Amino acid sequence: MAGNSAKIEAGGGTHDYAVLDGSVGPQVIDIRKLYADTGMFTYDPGFTSTASCDSGLTYIDGDQGILLHRGYPIDQLAEQSSFMEVAYLLLNGELPDKATLDSFVTTISRHTMVHEQLTTFYRGFRRDAHPMAIMCGVVGALSAFYHDSTDINDPLQRKIASHRLIAKMPTLAAMAYKYSVGQPFVYPRNDLSYTANFLRMTFSVPAEEYIPDPVIVDAMDKIFILHADHEQNASTSTVRLAGSSGANPFACIAAGIACLWGPAHGGANEAALNMLREIGTVDKIPEYIARAKNKDDPFRLMGFGHRVYKNYDPRATVMQKTAKDVLEKLGVKDPIFDVAKELEQIALNDPYFIEKKLYPNVDFYSGVILSAIGFPTDMFTVLFALARTVGWVAQWNEMISDPAQKIGRPRQLYTGPTQRDYVPVDKR
Ligand code: ACO
Repeated sequence: MAGNSAKIEAGGGTHDYAVLDGSVGPQVIDIRKLYADTGMFTYDPGFTSTASCDSGLTYIDGDQGILLHRGYPIDQLAEQSSFMEVAYLLLNGELPDKATLDSFVTTISRHTMVHEQLTTFYRGFRRDAHPMAIMCGVVGALSAFYHDSTDINDPLQRKIASHRLIAKMPTLAAMAYKYSVGQPFVYPRNDLSYTANFLRMTFSVPAEEYIPDPVIVDAMDKIFILHADHEQNASTSTVRLAGSSGANPFACIAAGIACLWGPAHGGANEAALNMLREIGTVDKIPEYIARAKNKDDPFRLMGFGHRVYKNYDPRATVMQKTAKDVLEKLGVKDPIFDVAKELEQIALNDPYFIEKKLYPNVDFYSGVILSAIGFPTDMFTVLFALARTVGWVAQWNEMISDPAQKIGRPRQLYTGPTQRDYVPVDKR
């Protein structure tokens, strides 16, 4: 690499490619002309060395354990901001003044109700359906209800669709929960904060009033902030790829939800808590550490390791403290929390985890908190989807507004049969 260009020797020649600077972080080699110049593609399954877009939303330094949204460190946002303010920041690039924030909150609260006919969709699901299965369906179905905000070329419609998605996700998520426990749906109340309203829609019943506990509201709001965005992760890239074809925003977010469901991604918080429950007591930890290190055993420590963080996930630090606060406030003495803390200490001092730079990620402690608040395990990923909708929507808007945007179309290294002639079935 010389100066601000890189030379690549390939296809019988040497070619210069511009090296692009971000505002911070690694430079990237602009290889867009590589195929035209050399007749070769690059090969990077899992995109470990490939920047798929440029973006001004979120910056991660995985080696240092840094996460910034529009430049602001995640710990400062989690401690001092609110989920609605972070949503505004991600969507618009700057922190709002008081009047602008109030107006944004009012706008979001005016979109919290969902079309009454959507309730009939829920009744089509089995009561034991996984709530993520329900969310994939009902969020995709929003595009059938809100035709006036599906024209992606109209900035106003894009804005309305973004507000609708952020506002309706708590309502849809709470309905998924209510359906699974056989309780009536609870309509939103717009005098409550975004997070308090969600907790009320989830946990209140018509038989008695539900007053959200401020400590739980604060913890939940922090959890939402910690999950709001995480640059080009699998589900966000899915939303961008779906959106690159011009699909409507509701369909794109449904695609993101489907991707998030997997245990290597959003499903990890559910898997982490199940694992902690399975371990059960501190004395069983060595057995599970040994399994995680055994190459012949597919078992992994869930909530450990990250594609980008090769240091402590900064979100896990806030999450551990929040877990302590919530358990103290609720007076819960959950042995799972002790197992989690001990497991973390043992793993952090084990050469296998040190060498591979495996640290707790955001999911390691979130399950402990969500379980203490009263959420069943299969709702955990739904809560992640609710919060991440902000990031998905902001990233989708950034992509659509970019004049250089084109349909995402990766290439491949073909390893199948070469051309051969069809043989009729009676001759095979
Ligand atoms: N437990 C034990 N070993 C692990 C773990 C783990 N949790 N994670 C990675 N390793 C090992 C792998 O076996 C591999 O070892 P090897 O080099 O000897 O083959 C090495 O560390 C590298 O692992 P990869 O899977 O290649 O790393 P990758 O970056 O592709 O995976 C991932 C990252 C998927 C998050 C992985 O660490 C994992 O499966 N963790 C558990 C699931 C989890 O917590 N996911 C949540 C991610 S955060 C989020 O989505 C919000």
